[in-house]
Amino acid sequence: MTPPVARLTVAVTRMVPEAGLELLRSSPEITDLRIWPEELPPTPDQLAELLQGCDGVVTLLSDRVDSETLDREPQLRVVANYAVGYDNIDVSAATERGVAVCNTPDALTHATADLAFALLMASARRLVEAADYVRAGQWRTWGPQLLLGQEFHGRTLGIIGPGRIGTEVARRGTGFGMRLLGWSRSGRLSDEAKSIGMTAVDLDDLLTRSDFVSIHVPLGDETRHLIGARELGLMKPTAILVNTARGPVVDQVALVQALAAGTIAGAGLDVTDPEPLAADHPLVREPRAIVVPHIGSATVAARDEMARMAAGAVLAVLRGERPSNQVNGEAVWLGVRPSR
Ligand code: DGY
Repeated sequence: MTPPVARLTVAVTRMVPEAGLELLRSSPEITDLRIWPEELPPTPDQLAELLQGCDGVVTLLSDRVDSETLDREPQLRVVANYAVGYDNIDVSAATERGVAVCNTPDALTHATADLAFALLMASARRLVEAADYVRAGQWRTWGPQLLLGQEFHGRTLGIIGPGRIGTEVARRGTGFGMRLLGWSRSGRLSDEAKSIGMTAVDLDDLLTRSDFVSIHVPLGDETRHLIGARELGLMKPTAILVNTARGPVVDQVALVQALAAGTIAGAGLDVTDPEPLAADHPLVREPRAIVVPHIGSATVAARDEMARMAAGAVLAVLRGERPSNQVNGEAVWLGVRPSR
């Protein structure tokens, strides 16, 4: 006799690419697939309703999954975040309850490294200011001092958090003849980072010596406001800061002040605190800052792969497997928990 097919309920909290949805739709075990259809994320109450009775969920970085969420749904076995970062999920609470938390590493490494480099270049060569200048009809002649920026060749690129993405940004820097410095919380560099010529330094040293600084650390208690007024004060007045990691890694009030005072020359931000940032926020209005709406992974290839990875992780966990992209491999599912 063939065993009965499980009847599983899975939610996806936004319209992720079809590549992932198709995996879930074609799975015979999933008899109830709920997809949040709106452009805006569900509110906490809407999320609670969407997750009612779910065995697995694909979440986005805009969804908060905490102990309350997990206690409301004692049958929930897997939360697969459609992102490499997972600071929106209380991983310890999930682990305590045997709930697997998965993410999408690798899928977005190149897309995010490309965007970080694009922000470095756009800030260094003042591309947004230059395009606005033309659009505003201010271009009257070739100017010997017009919109002067910074060169990359021979300059120093400092990578804060030289993991997968940070190392790829650094690799792009080698093509421009840049010197590479790296700071990691462990004080060590990967063989790959060393092989492209990166030198390990402490954070103050990196900030003092770099012409360009790119941030790639995950958000956690130790990295919240890692870059504040003191750290910005160590940077060169010609330096440019790029953040494609998480907004709260930088103390944004201090950054606004540093840009206004000319402590640093520019900033390229894919992430802010909060998100979205209001159109009248001083950083959005600051000509030396370029703010884009968290689009680091926004390429067709990366988003397709992220969708496949997140959906694949949900299926794997629900089938009793341990996917390689599970971030809390120590979580052990002991069955439906008594509701608290
Ligand atoms: C991530 O994956 O953490 C990015 O910030 C969004 O793709």
